Amino acid sequence: MPRSGAIAVFVASAWLTIFAQQPGKLAATPPMGWNSWNHFNKQVDDATIRAQADAMVASGMRDAGYLYVNIDDTWEGERDAQGIIHANSKFPDMKALADYVHSKGLKLGIYSSPGTKTCAKYEGSYGHEEQDAQTYADWGIDYLKYDLCSLRDMMKDAPTPEAAHKMMLEAYTKMHKALLKTGRPIVYSLCQYGNDAVWKWGGSVGGNLWRTTGDISDRYARMAEIGFAQAGLAKYSSPGRWNDPDMLEVGNGGMNAEEYRTHMSLWAILAAPLLAGNDLTKMTPETVALLTNRNVIAIDQDSAGIPGDRVSAEGPTEIWARPLADGSKAIGLFNRHPQPMEMRVSFRQLGFSGPVQVRDVWGGKDLGTVQDEYQGRVPGHGVILLRVAK
Ligand code: GLA
Repeated sequence: MPRSGAIAVFVASAWLTIFAQQPGKLAATPPMGWNSWNHFNKQVDDATIRAQADAMVASGMRDAGYLYVNIDDTWEGERDAQGIIHANSKFPDMKALADYVHSKGLKLGIYSSPGTKTCAKYEGSYGHEEQDAQTYADWGIDYLKYDLCSLRDMMKDAPTPEAAHKMMLEAYTKMHKALLKTGRPIVYSLCQYGNDAVWKWGGSVGGNLWRTTGDISDRYARMAEIGFAQAGLAKYSSPGRWNDPDMLEVGNGGMNAEEYRTHMSLWAILAAPLLAGNDLTKMTPETVALLTNRNVIAIDQDSAGIPGDRVSAEGPTEIWARPLADGSKAIGLFNRHPQPMEMRVSFRQLGFSGPVQVRDVWGGKDLGTVQDEYQGRVPGHGVILLRVAK
């Protein structure tokens, strides 16, 4: 390489490093990736992670924006005499695994708890926060999900609810500071099931995202319960500080295509993290299409980073809208009833005056100019997702 080229590369990479390390720039849009828990549960190992990383590339998911490959609970082994945590035998060489994932243009995430034990009763980080953060950084970890788990038991011994709350905030802050001290940009994901209105303080303890709910499952009723319960929380979510209604179940088989479209559409309107939770090595073309729809992902990842919220609800039908950077709006007409329902939306009521251009997002079709109202038949448990511009 000529000298000027080498200098340019050096300057560019130094600039990128500085940029990536600015805390405000981490998770500038909701994190996208994959997590082992929903599908593999405790059956996750090194080979699984490599295979998922391979499949993320081969399926086109990486090119659609999915980036993080996250190991959830059950990787943890013993601490040595110095207190350093080691992975268990399922993960013989975490650094080599991180190198492999990075070689695919992806990033690696890991999981721990501020308590002594994780939710699956593996070793937590209590009393070893700085050591663990440094170990993760040494391995090349890019994302940490920090799950309350057994710290809840310790909180029960606190003299007052206020003292218990303070204990939790201090525990989350401690790991945030430990991560910062490593100098490595590591996305910090809080998981404490939405207790104590985490959306009000998750950012103050350094969280880039925080779970707003208990665990999702691969059933419409649970997904809908969680997703639609996000109404009113939009104002607490912004670039680098996202509400997280839990990971995706798309492709796990417990919902039909309409229901999974509802799942993706609602998460996109909410500006929720998109962490796939299925087996990426065994996807039908339909699952790939659901997960990689560019127009849906563009809504989720919109650069303005303003989450949408519920506009109205009438019986089992709900209208949600999200303002987008180009002045257009994503509008979801959701039908929570199992049978199809006619739904109507007035664009004037959504802040537009005069005729608008309407696009059917999932259908990938321009519906042309519409004067004021749109009316459509929404499938049972389904959605019509529109992108509306002046
Ligand atoms: C909790 C979390 C889940 C998962 C499990 C792992 O239940 O909410 O997302 O991380 O722990 O044990």
